[in-house]
Amino acid sequence: MGFLDIRKVAKAYGQVQALHQVDVSVEEGEFLVLVGPSGCGKSTLLNMIAGLESITSGEIAIKGRVVNGLHPSKRNIAMVFQSYALYPNMTVAQNITFGLEMHKIPKPEREAALKEVGKLLQIEHLLDRRPGQLSGGQRQRVAMGRALVRKPDVFLFDEPLSNLDAKLRVDMRAEIKKLHQKLGATIVYVTHDQIEAMTLSTRIAVMNKGYVQQLGTPRQIYDEPANLFVAGFMGSPAMNLIPARVVMAEGAPQAEVTDAAGIPQLLRLPQGFMAAWEGREILLGLRPEAVTDPEGADRKAQHLQSLRNRVGLTEPAGADTFVTMSLSGRDCVARLRADAEAKPGEEFLFAVNMDKAVAFDPQSEARITN
Ligand SMILES: Nc1ncnc2c1ncn2[C@@H]1O[C@H](COP(=O)(O)OP(=O)(O)OP(=O)(O)O)[C@@H](O)[C@H]1O
Ligand SMILES: [Mg+2]
Repeated sequence: MGFLDIRKVAKAYGQVQALHQVDVSVEEGEFLVLVGPSGCGKSTLLNMIAGLESITSGEIAIKGRVVNGLHPSKRNIAMVFQSYALYPNMTVAQNITFGLEMHKIPKPEREAALKEVGKLLQIEHLLDRRPGQLSGGQRQRVAMGRALVRKPDVFLFDEPLSNLDAKLRVDMRAEIKKLHQKLGATIVYVTHDQIEAMTLSTRIAVMNKGYVQQLGTPRQIYDEPANLFVAGFMGSPAMNLIPARVVMAEGAPQAEVTDAAGIPQLLRLPQGFMAAWEGREILLGLRPEAVTDPEGADRKAQHLQSLRNRVGLTEPAGADTFVTMSLSGRDCVARLRADAEAKPGEEFLFAVNMDKAVAFDPQSEARITN
């Protein structure tokens, strides 16, 4: 039993099945991120935890107590919305302590809690202002202050940063992470931003079309995606997915791909990887950082392989240069050091780290494991 248990929870809005049998168990102090494209059911799940949506079937329990029929105010959770939902006519201080007042917490305690939260979020100098007199980032802090002041069992966040500009979003992301480390709070956080998911979470639930596609640590999700959807959704630039045929050569399974000139090239798969797949088609998954210039290659790689190929596009991005080349007729993006000498139209010797390669069954779309 976890701190927050979601057991076989489903949601139907009439004919629309918004969620199918979701099972997630969250430990105390975990930072669980729900990530996925628009309409996949993230907010629906969060709202069901909060008690703002009814549960069609299944059970949600907080600290061992089933909360299905429990009013939101009785669940000891706090939610921060994308819109912040601050009261425009109240001061920042009133906005933060309003919930405590409703719960009949005595004034001295409210004042003490306000002071603590004000200091934690560095908004002490804003307490007398109204929301209209604040910047977007400051409003966001006030909305978080209102959640923090209640000391809830679980914090729920629904895309709290999506109204902020890019720079502020990165700053606030770091603040939320610091806050989590400091407070050890249990958090469920919704975003459609895969970078936010990777940087904030202790675990990620990748969702699509009402299903949890994979639940795991950021490393597991990134290095061992369960299927093509997860592989394509997490990571930017996205994982390269190259059609390949499994052949045996020199006693080992190899992925046969074709280079830009249409000539077959072999990429050696780790021993024992997929002997059963000999002669069959797979999709070879290579992250851009697994395809580099030889000097930029990971020194710890055990299956580093050379691949000569014609360079298509080069895109300098400051610290790195992204290079596109053609493999099996698909664009394959490589991540090179900024000073690697790759020129469009010319041949280049790439280093491919096959330790990091993954493979997918093109039919079932599932990752092929040993
Ligand atoms: N009140 C409702 N009535 C009918 N269908 C709804 C209702 N609320 C949500 N849905 C549907 O349920 C599905 C999941 O919606 P939800 O809001 O949970 O998605 P989301 O993952 O939060 O998306 P976004 O990233 O756009 O916020 C969608 O298909 C949506 O159209
Ligand atoms: Mg939503």
